[in-house]
Amino acid sequence: MSTFRLIFATLTFSLIFLSCASNESANENVLQEQQESSPMKEKMQMQEDDRISLGLNDMQKQHQLKNMRSHLVAVQTIVELLSKENYDLASKVAYTELGSTTEMKLMCASFGNEQFENMGLAFHASADKMSEIIKTKDKKASLEALSVTMNYCVQCHANFRQ
Ligand code: HEC
Repeated sequence: MSTFRLIFATLTFSLIFLSCASNESANENVLQEQQESSPMKEKMQMQEDDRISLGLNDMQKQHQLKNMRSHLVAVQTIVELLSKENYDLASKVAYTELGSTTEMKLMCASFGNEQFENMGLAFHASADKMSEIIKTKDKKASLEALSVTMNYCVQCHANFRQ
């Protein structure tokens, strides 16, 4: 073997070795990325709904969701009326749609969960208070009262599901 051939062979061998080595480390990176991202993906997919279930039957479910959608309409209506400074109507909507009417109290009691009932009753009582505050025609105080009531929406949704 000539010296030239020996050098050529050594160089080729080194090049092949180097390219394999660098491929290997590239693969390692990909593997590492996969290992890092997959548990996170699993976590996102497997996040459980650990809220308390009320165990409602189909009819109760429909009825409750309808009631809830009307709560949302009521909140939107109150915000709009306050922006137009129509305090009388806003106060009326706050009581009739969200306040402690007999219908609302019966509805809260009908699901057979005391904690849920108490939260519902406290929510309706806060709407009674909001209705009174709106009558004073103080926009800032009215918005604060609406925020207090809406906090019950948030709290109950965080704790209960159908
Ligand atoms: C005492 C508990 C409680 C309060 C207070 C409450 N909700 Fe709900 N709401 C629920 C439950 C339980 C569900 C069903 C959620 C589920 O199963 O994921 C629900 C569902 C809803 C839905 C979904 C309706 C649909 O058709 O899918 C809306 C909208 C909603 N609530 C709006 C409101 C608003 C707005 C307020 C406050 C003004 C409010 N809720 C206050 C318990 C409550």
